[in-house]
Amino acid sequence: MIKKITKAVFPVAGMGTRFLPATKSNPKEMLPIVDKPLIQYAAEEAVAAGCTELIFVIGRNKRAIPDHFDKAYELEVELQQRGKTKLLEQVQNILPANVTCVYLRQAEALGLGHAVWCTKPLIGDEPFIVILADDLIDAEPKNCLQQMVELYNKHACSVLGVEEIPHEDTDKYGIVSVKDVQGRQAKIETIVEKPHPSKAPSNLAVVGRYILTPRIFELIETNTRGAGGEIQLTDAIEKLLAHETVLTHRFAGKRYDCGSKLGYLQATVEYALKHPELKEPFQHYLQAYCLPPLPQTKSGK
Ligand code: G1P
Repeated sequence: MIKKITKAVFPVAGMGTRFLPATKSNPKEMLPIVDKPLIQYAAEEAVAAGCTELIFVIGRNKRAIPDHFDKAYELEVELQQRGKTKLLEQVQNILPANVTCVYLRQAEALGLGHAVWCTKPLIGDEPFIVILADDLIDAEPKNCLQQMVELYNKHACSVLGVEEIPHEDTDKYGIVSVKDVQGRQAKIETIVEKPHPSKAPSNLAVVGRYILTPRIFELIETNTRGAGGEIQLTDAIEKLLAHETVLTHRFAGKRYDCGSKLGYLQATVEYALKHPELKEPFQHYLQAYCLPPLPQTKSGK
């Protein structure tokens, strides 16, 4: 019988150096896209895909994340007294009542593989999800993880979310070569972390969405330090290929690299243009102040 996926891991111990000084005392995953922090978009995606246990691997300066998901008594009383019921509902329903959050401290930031390995005692012998919250993925009607869980439910194997990237960017991602392509799905042949464009096996990049079988833990244990001197998840996945099939899913949707300033700004603008209260005034603002004037049409034509 296929084991149901109920646990999602959020590695959030990184230093967020690309956003300093904004991330000096605040985690990058708490940066908002319009009115919601990145970590909440990621948590909502996991919950919609069936997860009821959210495991956050946190580091220094990450207190804001547990605080965000905890009950905020004073704020709730204040909103109630002021009759702000809509806002009150929003802060009370950050996550559904059946969802549990667990926080685990990664004492040293040794890399993504190490962050995932730290969750071994909490995951046990189950398949699980890993989400990197700075990859924000907008996908409807099914979010990226829902699409991947469907594939897992058919094949009971690890599944990685992938997309094609410009070839010159291969040294920013885990890169796969694949075979047996069937629509959006394929089998991984090789995977390598951040190869130089001249050595990359393709331009198909792993995005921050993984479904992994628990065998990954023992393989991370055999890892030596990889790219960037870190314990890489990619290296353990490469070893997993010797034991199990690992599938890729070319997700339907749009990814924003919110770990980069440009991607973050693109997400902010595009989410604002979809926001029910902001879309009109924001569009007017962009048209009036940020875009070149529309070409004049001659009257009478
Ligand atoms: C991590 C992974 C990489 C993956 C990327 C997706 O890299 O190590 O394989 O392609 O996330 O965003 P990072 O961006 O943390 O350096």
